[in-house]
Amino acid sequence: MKQQRATFNSKLGLVMASVGSAIGLGNIWRFPCEAGEHGGGAFLIVYIFCVMILGLSVMLAEFFLGRASQKDAVGAFKVLAPCSMWKIAGYNGVVAAFCIVGFYSVVSGWTLEYIYQSATGNLNAGSVEEFTENFKNFTSDAFRPVLWVFIFMLITHFIVLLGVKKGIEQTSKLMMPLLFVILIILCVRSLMLPNSIEGLKFFFKPDFSKITSGVILSALGQAFFSVSVGMGCMITYASYFNKSINMPTTAVSVVALDTLVAILAGIVIFPAVTSFNISPSQGPTLVFVTLPNIFQQMPFGNLWSLIFFVLLAIAALTSIISLHEVVTAYLHEQYKMSRNKAATIVSLSGFAIGIICSLSFGVLSHIKIFGVIIFDLLDFITANLMLPLGGMFICIFVGWFINKKFLKDELTNNGTIKFRLFYVFFILIKYIAPIIIALVCINQLGLF
Ligand code: PFF
Repeated sequence: MKQQRATFNSKLGLVMASVGSAIGLGNIWRFPCEAGEHGGGAFLIVYIFCVMILGLSVMLAEFFLGRASQKDAVGAFKVLAPCSMWKIAGYNGVVAAFCIVGFYSVVSGWTLEYIYQSATGNLNAGSVEEFTENFKNFTSDAFRPVLWVFIFMLITHFIVLLGVKKGIEQTSKLMMPLLFVILIILCVRSLMLPNSIEGLKFFFKPDFSKITSGVILSALGQAFFSVSVGMGCMITYASYFNKSINMPTTAVSVVALDTLVAILAGIVIFPAVTSFNISPSQGPTLVFVTLPNIFQQMPFGNLWSLIFFVLLAIAALTSIISLHEVVTAYLHEQYKMSRNKAATIVSLSGFAIGIICSLSFGVLSHIKIFGVIIFDLLDFITANLMLPLGGMFICIFVGWFINKKFLKDELTNNGTIKFRLFYVFFILIKYIAPIIIALVCINQLGLF
């Protein structure tokens, strides 16, 4: 007998799971640091364009692929285009997921250390220099961060093992509302700081002269990373959608909530940064050095730090689960392995890459590829190359090789729901998205 495929239990559950995948370190850690490094308001404008136009279209194309095929990221291409090379787009996704798990688990592990330190009242260094020093000492240590990676991977492993309904759906349904509440509390706190208006200006007031091709590529990569597209994550999740789900509205909800959280994170971070006269362009340390330092200067500092890092850990957890699920579903379905075995392989090998990424801040910091450490290399290659290119191939595949009527029927649930902007979506994925992505990538590689 053919085994019944897992599905999400409720509409709310599947939206929360997809939102949980999208909202993560990408919104709260990566987005402010990219925006800070690339000119604040200018980056925000390009980012919003990329996420609303390109991110949304690729997400809907992925939803289509997943639900129509009822397969994992590679299986979807095999079913919809048998005996073709398109499955390479699926492999690109599985490899990207695997690499992201590697560096993502490291930053997720850091959040646990900071939770521990705030809970035990030890996160009080004194000056920014001391905070920076402590952060560097911690991240370059050979054992402690690796231990936290291990713990984080272990938690992820058990949630994935619990399966789609009990593990992924339940965790996301519980965690996502909690995350919103914490974020709103932090926003209010940040806006009450003196001089917070300067931070808001930096974040919202665009200086168009700062928009370069590098800024556009970073915004594009960040948009794809943030809404979890370009690598089959949404293909995998959509394969668990039932046939009555309205995919266009689900995609809009996921992208809108994700963007809202990124903007809220900016509202927490930039006013706090300018209020304490710190440069917003600190890079990856912005959240781990600047924020605890700022919290420390406020009443109940450790409590604010604790709340913030719990928020970050929750966001990280629901995202890493989805990355893990991409590879687990692939191994489970393509190699007919039990879910248990597939998840164990992914957890162990993800942990191995996590160790290498973590050590690249310390004992392996001398290994530089293209001038950067392994952690930064994986971050750059996945977000700025594999996801945009993956997204481009997904658009070309759906726009050019899928029968248009089949696409429309699937996206309108056989005509039972309305999708008025179908033709706009179709032109976007057929022409506009692939051309823009190709131009940005070619330009960035310096080919013209
Ligand atoms: N969207 C997640 C974040 O913003 O942190 C990261 C991510 C998850 C990227 C899943 C890609 C993915 F497939």
